[in-house]
Amino acid sequence: MDEQSVVTAYKRMAKSYDRVFGAVFEPGRQLAVSKMGCKPGDRILEVGVGTGLSLVHYPEDVKVTGIDVSPHMLEQARARLNGDAHRISLELMDAQALEYADNSFDKVVAMYVASVVPDPAAMMREMKRVCRPGGDLFVINHFSRDDGPIAACERMISPISKLVGFRTSFPLGEFLSTAELDSVDIEPVNLFGYWKLLHARNV
Ligand SMILES: C[S@@+](CC[C@H](N)C(=O)[O-])C[C@H]1O[C@@H](n2cnc3c(N)ncnc32)[C@H](O)[C@@H]1O
Repeated sequence: MDEQSVVTAYKRMAKSYDRVFGAVFEPGRQLAVSKMGCKPGDRILEVGVGTGLSLVHYPEDVKVTGIDVSPHMLEQARARLNGDAHRISLELMDAQALEYADNSFDKVVAMYVASVVPDPAAMMREMKRVCRPGGDLFVINHFSRDDGPIAACERMISPISKLVGFRTSFPLGEFLSTAELDSVDIEPVNLFGYWKLLHARNV
């Protein structure tokens, strides 16, 4: 995946995204926000906010910033803000080069984004940099098997990545070793627990 392919893929998908990926990814979004244990005044950054399907789950007394590299996905997210623009801001930005100072947020989350960004290690570096020490990092994603027949299958279909807008081969072990997170909790989510919610404290 390169950035242009991501922008093109999500331009194509933006209008139908909620119908296709709304319900199927919803349990993960709800679980991630409930695990955040948001406190009044918390500053939350959601990278790859997409069409903003998660925004409804945040309590009203936190400040949410959502960023995304796709102007078409953000357009959908803006359309659902209604009267919430004072506490939710949406910015066009690359998760791999965040335009925020160090330690700007209490909690940083990436839902279904890690296998889409061209460089997931850079995204994680940036998420850690802008999260305050002792803050919380959350990632939800589907991770492919490290080995075995299913892993071979996932590797085989990897050339269609550009078309579908995400990497089909994305092993958890590989992600964890590049992400360099401290003591990660891993919880299965969504259909058949096929996706994982990762939570780590930012050190
Ligand atoms: C599968 S969608 C997930 C959207 C949303 N988080 C959800 O729960 O449905 C992946 C999103 O990541 C965004 N994305 C991909 N690469 C990105 C990058 N480098 N920086 C910011 N957003 C990115 C895409 O534009 C898309 O909106």
